[in-house]
Amino acid sequence: MPLVNSKEMFKKAYDGGYAIGAFNVNNMEIIQGIVEAGTDLKAPLILQVSKGARNYANPVYLKKLVEAALEVSGLPIVLHLDHGDSFDTCVSCIESGFTSVMIDGSHLSFEENIALTKKVVDYAHPRGVTVEGELGRLAGVEDDIKVSAEDSSYTQPEEVEEFVSKTGVDSLAIAIGTSHGAFKFKDEPKLRFDILDEVSKKLPGFPIVLHGASSVVPEFVEMINKYGGDMPGAQGVPEDMLRQAARSAVCKINIDSDLRLAMTATIRKHFAEHPADFDPRQYLAPARQAIKEMVAHKITKVLGCDGKA
Ligand code: G3H
Ligand code: 13P
Ligand code: ZN
Repeated sequence: MPLVNSKEMFKKAYDGGYAIGAFNVNNMEIIQGIVEAGTDLKAPLILQVSKGARNYANPVYLKKLVEAALEVSGLPIVLHLDHGDSFDTCVSCIESGFTSVMIDGSHLSFEENIALTKKVVDYAHPRGVTVEGELGRLAGVEDDIKVSAEDSSYTQPEEVEEFVSKTGVDSLAIAIGTSHGAFKFKDEPKLRFDILDEVSKKLPGFPIVLHGASSVVPEFVEMINKYGGDMPGAQGVPEDMLRQAARSAVCKINIDSDLRLAMTATIRKHFAEHPADFDPRQYLAPARQAIKEMVAHKITKVLGCDGKA
């Protein structure tokens, strides 16, 4: 099966009351761990590549690794640009075979965001590529940009219909209190489900995307802290909230930090227990296995997309 765009995947997810996991990929072991879990559980997958991942791994390598995953798994897989920062980046990804792109104009004015997003849609749609836009601004760190809590802003439901109709986007990322990274809440976690409800009412049948949706799995944070790390106060989105979102209009749930934590915690533990090891396969194999198990847990217990491939 070739790479697919997100159209059918989101329609089925919306109608079926589940969500697709959109996992950030940076190297072979991460891709393998995610895809092995997806294969075992017959789950559709979105593999997403950020600007940082493109710079780190080289887009050609990532594209070829995803092609290998496709060949080995036979799963429906979307190759998606995460947080596209310009029209040119989106064009470059579309030209190299991505089937979905995000254009993130959330830092622009409403009018500028519409104009940029529409420009990308007009280029992408004739080429069979789906487009994700964003309204509202998440706090946290993504690539080199750090958005402080004060500069973040919730999505305004009264803007969404105009944004979607004027741009023609296929899905919309909204800000309801999630944030990027491993430190999402200072106190009790709270999400604005009232905003999600209002947005869904204004856009019936339309797929919503949740960024910054890692749970920051406590088991991995504890392991990192136990083996020489220092992450006091790390906290993610509780799984019951993510399950609630997955049952609603949210069709895509973005997960990166949980992959990083699983990999890093496992490698730290490995070196604490085997300080003399220097063969990368010895520590990357358990890290890949930890990613596989964590993704399997997300698919079955959070997203509900097992058996939907
Ligand atoms: O939303 C951002 C993702 O976590 C990607 O992070 O830009 O450091 O690859 P990155
Ligand atoms: P997390 O940092 O919560 O994993 O979010 C990732 C994300 O939104 C990627 O776009
Ligand atoms: Zn994001």
